[in-house]
Amino acid sequence: MEHPDDNAHLALRPFIKAHFHFQFLSAAFELGLFGLLAKHPGLTAREIAGLTGLNHQPTRILLLGCTATGLLRKEGDGYHNTPLGEPLSGAAERAPASYLPWEKQGIYRAIGWFSEALQEDTNVGLHREFPGTAPTLYGRLSENPDMEQVFHTMMSSVSTLVAGDLTEKLDLSAYRSLLDVGGGAAINATNLAGRWPRLSVTIADLPTVAESARKKIAETGLEERVRTAELDAFRDEFPRGHDAVLFAHFLEIWSADRVRALLSKAARALSPGGGIFVVTPYQNDEQTGPVRAAYLSAYFHTIASGEGMVYTCREYESWFREADLEPTGRVMLGPDTVVICGRKP
Ligand SMILES: C[S@@+](CC[C@H](N)C(=O)[O-])C[C@H]1O[C@@H](n2cnc3c(N)ncnc32)[C@H](O)[C@@H]1O
Repeated sequence: MEHPDDNAHLALRPFIKAHFHFQFLSAAFELGLFGLLAKHPGLTAREIAGLTGLNHQPTRILLLGCTATGLLRKEGDGYHNTPLGEPLSGAAERAPASYLPWEKQGIYRAIGWFSEALQEDTNVGLHREFPGTAPTLYGRLSENPDMEQVFHTMMSSVSTLVAGDLTEKLDLSAYRSLLDVGGGAAINATNLAGRWPRLSVTIADLPTVAESARKKIAETGLEERVRTAELDAFRDEFPRGHDAVLFAHFLEIWSADRVRALLSKAARALSPGGGIFVVTPYQNDEQTGPVRAAYLSAYFHTIASGEGMVYTCREYESWFREADLEPTGRVMLGPDTVVICGRKP
């Protein structure tokens, strides 16, 4: 029998034990440990027990998990954040802290149905783990307002991360009116309207989401130029009169056939010369990565819709052509997000 420390065992351990790593991280975050140590570096186990309300032995187990995995380090009797733990001491609505409640409440149990979801070719994780009856995550979230809030806090923080790059690199100077399909909590819409003073944006999303987007728009004072339209992108035609359409973190949720239908719908709504922009996680044309494309594809298939995945730029460009849209280029936003740009000839 092989010794458990043999190389193959050790190399596989991060895969086999990944769930423990997440639990150490998530429990420490929920208990506010990273924030406590950012304020009071060098707290002892006894002090941490007092501040978190944990008993002595649970405190030891948590601290052992966090030091063994490199989230914390111990110096003498005192504990300190490491560069891994430190970013989790910040605001709960900002990445990476914003990811943890969604990963725990939204993904963790549901992604355990990955293999069944592959075999049954549908989102078994959603059906098994999320209360409600809607066939997609977004419908179920509208039946669960607390979860919807957790989701949009996470999603807004993701969009905020790419927003700087998006507003800097995407040239919308030629456009006056952008339709933001599946625009969510208005992060892209408000950032783009802030960057391009002559641009108006219409966020088209499901009714409960459009309502929370309106609150966000009111906070930014952009009501004159950022509006919402309650719309089901599959049932309804897109409103006319916009000279550009944006799909941000939206098309990858759906099957290739539905993506094609949505692109045709966008093409119908645009006049000649209109622009089309697809902001999406990046998968290389060789279909070998990056790893974020793999995580998200598993998530769309097992939970969100049961039909989507992160597609390659080449696929989008061929679907553009099928819809009589002309691809005009790709713009990378950081290492793993891309904008595929096009126009209606
Ligand atoms: C992953 S979020 C992206 C939000 C936003 N575009 C962003 O980049 O932050 C997907 C969005 O699609 C919306 N959505 C899902 N199904 C939809 C449908 N059938 N019609 C319109 N919007 C939909 C969801 O409500 C959600 O806001």
